[in-house]
Amino acid sequence: MSEGFLQKSMPAALEVELRELEEVGQLRFLRTVSGPQQAHTILDGRPTLLLCSNNYLGLANHPKLRTAAQEAVEQYGCSAGASRLISGTMRLHGELEEALAIFKKAPKTLVFNSGYVANLALLTTLVGEGDVIFSDALNHASIVDGCRLSRAQLKVYRHCDIGHLEQMLKSTAATFRRRLIVTDSVFSMDGDIAPLPEVAALARRYDAIVMVDDAHATGILGAGGRGSAEHFGLGFDDLDLQMGTLGKALGSCGAYVAGAPRFIDYLINKARSFIYSTALPPAVLGASLAALELLSEEPGRVARLRSLTDYFRQGLRRLEIAVSDDPTPIVPVVVGDPQRTMALSAWFLERGVFIQGIRPPTVAPGQSLLRVTISADLEYSDLDRVLELFAERRHDFKVKP
Ligand SMILES: Cc1ncc(COP(=O)(O)O)c(C=O)c1O
Repeated sequence: MSEGFLQKSMPAALEVELRELEEVGQLRFLRTVSGPQQAHTILDGRPTLLLCSNNYLGLANHPKLRTAAQEAVEQYGCSAGASRLISGTMRLHGELEEALAIFKKAPKTLVFNSGYVANLALLTTLVGEGDVIFSDALNHASIVDGCRLSRAQLKVYRHCDIGHLEQMLKSTAATFRRRLIVTDSVFSMDGDIAPLPEVAALARRYDAIVMVDDAHATGILGAGGRGSAEHFGLGFDDLDLQMGTLGKALGSCGAYVAGAPRFIDYLINKARSFIYSTALPPAVLGASLAALELLSEEPGRVARLRSLTDYFRQGLRRLEIAVSDDPTPIVPVVVGDPQRTMALSAWFLERGVFIQGIRPPTVAPGQSLLRVTISADLEYSDLDRVLELFAERRHDFKVKP
């Protein structure tokens, strides 16, 4: 087969696959937010209540972050111009890493361009051939990809099943050089929380390193929004490596890894996704620093988010719609079938409320859901309006068992 033939037949082959996705209700397309990223915005040209963003604390359009981003641009320009190890490390990178270390009560931190690359960095650098990774079955795709790229042996334990994890640790105890347990702390689609104290105890017993993904816990869990360690009263003796993102509750962009100084030094020297990529620009660093300051000045924001979340979950429960008790702002409402899920998402959107439908492969087949997320810039009256819509369609959702 000539190269020319392959190139010409390629679009047709892709067309077939896209049609197949469409037929089973799994074709994706992009929607455009043309207003600011906040609860009340403009989506595809219409005023819309945004109920599926990860901007949990409502900071993405906060005046303090906007001003900090503008000032950083005025002072330092628009780009870091190079990767961190060349000339891209700017004063603001250092300031942000120090502020994150104080926020996380961590020995040291390192900033990454995104959570996705931070997870790739950790997993491909700290373990490799001859090592073994134990990974929760519902971990985020960036962890799954990091595990695959690491070339370590991968053992997937059943979701949050400590007994299963222990069984796996026991049966592989002596054979591998390094053992690493990796888990989301707050699971991104289900909003439930990993049993981290039990995971940490097993890691101690079986001499494993623990890596936790706090993407949906940073700014959310713990009284000060410091994440899962604060929520459970754990430290860096228990959870060796904690990563978190700056682009969700903190309203900015990028990610951090917090851990022992030698872990961080090792990442600086070995992590390819850190070494070979242009560093985060000043505007993002300025906004991230402002978000951390705001959290310590106004801890009430975290409490408000929790209170709005409880209010919404209780409202769904009153409608007898099945919903968990987790104290996180991710509220999945299971529909089941992907086409029905997307039809419901469109129904809400026609009424000015955007709740994205989540379909396989992001969730298991038969578990398609509307992933409602709460943010601190919503009003209780907004939630009342949304609950009225849920009441109209309550029979479309899984009811309380
Ligand atoms: C659990 C989890 N980890 C990592 C990431 C990736 O973070 P980022 O969006 O900063 O790449 C996400 C976000 O999508 C996530 O949900």
